[in-house]
Amino acid sequence: MIGPQTKLYAIIGKPIKHSLSPKLHNAMFEKYGIDAVYLAFEVNNIKQAVEGVKGLGIKGLNVTLPFKNEVIKFLDSIESQAKIIGSINTIKNSNGALLGYNTDYLGFFETIKDIDCNKSICILGSGGASAACIYAFYKKGVKSLNIYNRTFANAFTLKEQFGDLITLNLIEKKDIYKNEIIVNTTSAGILGSEDIIDLNLLNKNSLLIDIVYKSELIKKAAAVGINGIDGTKMFIYQAYHAFKIWTDIEFDINHAFEVINGPS
Ligand code: ATR
Repeated sequence: MIGPQTKLYAIIGKPIKHSLSPKLHNAMFEKYGIDAVYLAFEVNNIKQAVEGVKGLGIKGLNVTLPFKNEVIKFLDSIESQAKIIGSINTIKNSNGALLGYNTDYLGFFETIKDIDCNKSICILGSGGASAACIYAFYKKGVKSLNIYNRTFANAFTLKEQFGDLITLNLIEKKDIYKNEIIVNTTSAGILGSEDIIDLNLLNKNSLLIDIVYKSELIKKAAAVGINGIDGTKMFIYQAYHAFKIWTDIEFDINHAFEVINGPS
């Protein structure tokens, strides 16, 4: 039961109302008997929100769209992998010091772990999520990737950021369709705009990955016979690593899938 000792964890972002993080983390707090609650806050001013975390002694945060990069300047330290990626999605409040981590890349790594990545790969988007996916491909041993982004300058910034670590080739929209693996990291679907790509132009042997859980794009791809993977696994594994950072507990992955998808 919630009482004066109950610890608070939260996710902040905008929009936030579709987040499944409260459902998953609250289920895990209950399963492991931790006196804590996890809430979602739609935030307009990230600086004020971070000050609130310190002021109220909130124990941990997830950070999502559009604050994953901007939030960094308000933290006390950043874990080394997150520093390379340039964005964070998890914060631990350690006796008043806010430490930033990126667990998105760990979630995406799990998604591509068993996939043959010795293929032409194109990433759509150049935000924080894109950087996390690029870093996961780098960890998988991929040496070069193609990037398409609506705003060329943002893709160029990402290319400079990764430097020699992994070669990023900036491509035009029409060249997306030449790739064997296409990864959508844009917020186009979440924000409700039209599809980022024309599914009819994709090669039927290509693999489409969308980092959004329960992705409409992946459902539409399946309807036209294209193999797809949505972001459910990435979501669950980023939460697994965040939960471990906060509590030292490695939660039961099968239980997490049941919480999100319902019992199988
Ligand atoms: P995140 O942290 O989730 O990556 P972000 O940093 O806001 O979020 O990045 C969102 C990405 O989605 C960007 O690459 C953005 O393109 P721009 O760099 O041109 O802004 C991309 N994006 C968002 N909405 C889009 C849309 N409707 N069509 C194409 N790209 C879109």
